[in-house]
Amino acid sequence: MTETTMPAAPGAVPHRTLPAGALPHDWRAVDEGWGRRGPDFATLSEPSACREYVALHHALGVDHGDHLLDVACGAGLAVELAALRGATCAGVDASARLVDVARVRSPEADLRVGDMHDLPWPDATFTVVSSFRGVWGTTPGALDEIRRVLVPGGRLGLTVWGHVKASPGAWALAPFRLAAEPQVRNQAAMTSLGRPGVGEAVLEAAGFVDVRRVRIPFAWEFADPATYARALASTGPAFVAIQEVGEPAFLAAAERGATAHVRAGLPLRAEVDVTGFLARTAAAR
Ligand SMILES: C[S@@+](CC[C@H](N)C(=O)[O-])C[C@H]1O[C@@H](n2cnc3c(N)ncnc32)[C@H](O)[C@@H]1O
Repeated sequence: MTETTMPAAPGAVPHRTLPAGALPHDWRAVDEGWGRRGPDFATLSEPSACREYVALHHALGVDHGDHLLDVACGAGLAVELAALRGATCAGVDASARLVDVARVRSPEADLRVGDMHDLPWPDATFTVVSSFRGVWGTTPGALDEIRRVLVPGGRLGLTVWGHVKASPGAWALAPFRLAAEPQVRNQAAMTSLGRPGVGEAVLEAAGFVDVRRVRIPFAWEFADPATYARALASTGPAFVAIQEVGEPAFLAAAERGATAHVRAGLPLRAEVDVTGFLARTAAAR
C-alpha cells in the first residue's frame, strides 16, 4: 500500500502513517458524527448487521471461556450477542454516546470510551478480538494494539466493506458521496482493506498469522425510504455529507434514491458486499 506521513489535526492522537488520500483522524471528534443520533443508529441501523455478527462470531468459535474485546463497538449489539454465546465481553468506541447505549444493553461488560490506537487494557488480556467495519485502511496502527492485547494464539476477526460498487445494495451507501471531494477520497482509502490481497498483507505486516478471508453476509433492511434515510443519517459518514449539503438535502436525496428499490409488500433490502478476515497471534513458544 502506498503510504504518506500525514500531520495530525490539533489535539489528535499522533498517527504514524496513513494511506494516500486519507485525512488525519481525531478520535475525540468522532462522537460529534457517530453519537449525535445514538438511538436512531442503535435501533434503525445496527440491527441489520446481526447477520454479520452471527457469521463472524460463528467463524471465530466464540464460546464460554472466551474473553472478547470488540473494537469500535458502536452501540454494542455485537457485544451483547457475543455474551449470549457465553463470552466475557469488553468493548471500546470513540463515541461516548454510543458507549452509553452499549452499557444499557450489556451492564456486565467492560465498555470504555477510547481510541483503538491506544487500547486501555494490558498486554495479553483477550482470547478474541472482533471488529465490525471498525478497523479501516486508514487505521492500520490499530492492528498493533489489537495484537498487543491478544494472548499468544489469540483469535482476531475483522469485517470490512468489500466491493461496494458491485453490490446489489450499493445504492444504499451512495448518499455518502454527497460529502466534499477530499472526504469522498478518504472514504475510498478507508475501505481499501477489502481489495484483493490488501487486508491479508496489512494483517501479515502487523504480525498476524493464519490469515484467512471469509464471506460475511450483510443486508440492510428498512420498512420504507423515509426510515432508511433516517437510519443512514444517523451514521458518521452521513454527518460528513450533511455538513456539506445540509440535513434536508441529504434526507431528500437518500429517500429519492431508495424509492426506485421499493417492492410492494416487501421491506427495502440492500445487500452489500462485506469481507471478513480471520487471523491469529503467533502461539507462545
Ligand atoms: C462503521 S461504525 C461500526 C460500529 C459497530 N462496530 C457496528 O457494527 O455497528 C464505526 C465505529 O467506529 C468508531 N470509531 C471511529 N474512530 C474510532 C477510534 N479511533 N477508536 C475507537 N472507535 C472509533 C465510531 O464511533 C463508530 O462506532
